[in-house]
Amino acid sequence: MNFENQINLKKLPSHIAIIMDGNGRWAKSKGFLRTMGHNEGVKSVKETVESAAKIGVSYLTLYAFSTENWNRPKLEVDTLMKILVSSLKKEIKTLQNNNIRLTAIGNIETLPNKAKRELLDVIEKTKNNTRMTLILALNYGAREELTSAFKKIANNIENGTLKANEINEESINQALYTNSMPDVDLVIRTSGEQRISNFLLWQIAYAELYFTKVLWPDFRKNDLFEAIYNYQNRERRFGKTSEQLS
Ligand code: IPE
Ligand code: IPE
Ligand code: MG
Repeated sequence: MNFENQINLKKLPSHIAIIMDGNGRWAKSKGFLRTMGHNEGVKSVKETVESAAKIGVSYLTLYAFSTENWNRPKLEVDTLMKILVSSLKKEIKTLQNNNIRLTAIGNIETLPNKAKRELLDVIEKTKNNTRMTLILALNYGAREELTSAFKKIANNIENGTLKANEINEESINQALYTNSMPDVDLVIRTSGEQRISNFLLWQIAYAELYFTKVLWPDFRKNDLFEAIYNYQNRERRFGKTSEQLS
């Protein structure tokens, strides 16, 4: 089924977050090295980003490297960082042509120098783009994010700029990497796994979760549109009754 025609463009999720999973299994099933799966996954990233921007999604967050992914074999970590650098170099054009702003969440400071430099360069060059914000979650872990947010808040209390009883959801939001972004509406995870893997714990409090068996390198625009279509056919009640909504 072609899901593009089925989507209601007036009811799009404004923030979609994707756990791009299954690169390794995709490669293995074809008898390739795992790293081949990561290379192939870049095509899915490009198509997903362009399609989301085209239909009018405002925020797209992609989980590219978790704080736990450092525990993978060194060769794989090095390859992922290399792919990051080469993709940023190559795709800046795509971002500019599509008026997409790039930002990042995660502990960017401790990324390898080359990756950090390239990332900050593209963030700077695209900062005035307005069609869509693409957020790369890099060296990202929700617990690390929350820990660093607690530290910021505690520091503000220590130096007197904040009182403990002034802590509220707003000040917590501001201390997170995602400070100026809206809550996530839709989480998509590929590869059949049904878990969150330390992704955006605070921000997905009321997100709709969508799991698909499609492996990330096979993920194409129609898969994105199917996820959005599925999302649009759910009732988001936010604690209310169904009757209250209609
Ligand atoms: C997702 O694919 C990419 C990253 C986590 C960086 P995986 O590499 O996790 O693929 P599987 O889960 O082993 O198939
Ligand atoms: C989550 O995928 C991280 C990214 C997609 C970057 P993983 O493949 O690392 O997750 P787990 O470890 O299987 O939960
Ligand atoms: Mg995985």
